[in-house]
Amino acid sequence: MGRDFTDVSMAVVRRLPKYHRYLKDLLDKEVYRISSRELSRLIGFTASQIRQDLNCFGGFGQQGYGYNVEELYNEIGKILGLNKIYSTVIIGAGNLGQAIANYPHFVKYGFKLYGLFDSNPKLIGMKIRDINIYDVDAIESFVEKNQIEIGIICTPKEVAQDIADKLTNAGVKGIWNFAPLDIKVPDDVIVENVHLSESLFILSYLLHEKEALEAAKRK
Ligand code: NAI
Repeated sequence: MGRDFTDVSMAVVRRLPKYHRYLKDLLDKEVYRISSRELSRLIGFTASQIRQDLNCFGGFGQQGYGYNVEELYNEIGKILGLNKIYSTVIIGAGNLGQAIANYPHFVKYGFKLYGLFDSNPKLIGMKIRDINIYDVDAIESFVEKNQIEIGIICTPKEVAQDIADKLTNAGVKGIWNFAPLDIKVPDDVIVENVHLSESLFILSYLLHEKEALEAAKRK
């Protein structure tokens, strides 16, 4: 299968991790074959949505057979680039930075953590799961020397742009940004923002809406 998916919409791409997660659960339960209807019931997308999504990548199912779970899982993993190893660093070794470093899941999917960086002298020299916390002043030389591909920003927002500049100058290809700030980077660098509070505010909105609807019904 070719690797030119440039025409595939981001809406489809953003659904792929969910397919990947459900297929992993199926494999863990030793389910090796699944119909599109059953997959649809599990994931909550319509069967036609699933067919359309997977057709963007050449289609995987067979009429009358459904999907081979392992093949689909592996192919989606490849499309997501999970068949390679990425070198990463975390900048900001506070609550969030340490939580990410402590989470074994990312390593399992090929995101290898080479170091954490902080400006707090109390943290510098400590280790999280055998991984050193270094002085942030060394970030550029470390990234260059170890050819780090991904920087994970877990600093306060006030310093996040400066950190992003240092990371991009030193050659990272991607930034996973947790600071609540839309950082600016050169065109050839990819940023994926995780603004948890935005997601929380959507939950708040939906709860608020539901309450308003119920109150209106009671009137
Ligand atoms: P924290 O205060 O526990 O950790 C921030 C760390 O960044 C500290 O260790 C601090 O010494 C370090 N730091 C400050 N300036 C630095 C610099 N110039 N270079 C390197 N390190 C520097 O904060 P927390 O809770 O871990 O949050 C980190 C970021 O992630 C914040 O921007 C926050 O808004 C965001 N965030 C946090 C969430 C959470 O659940 N804790 C959730 C979503 C986002």
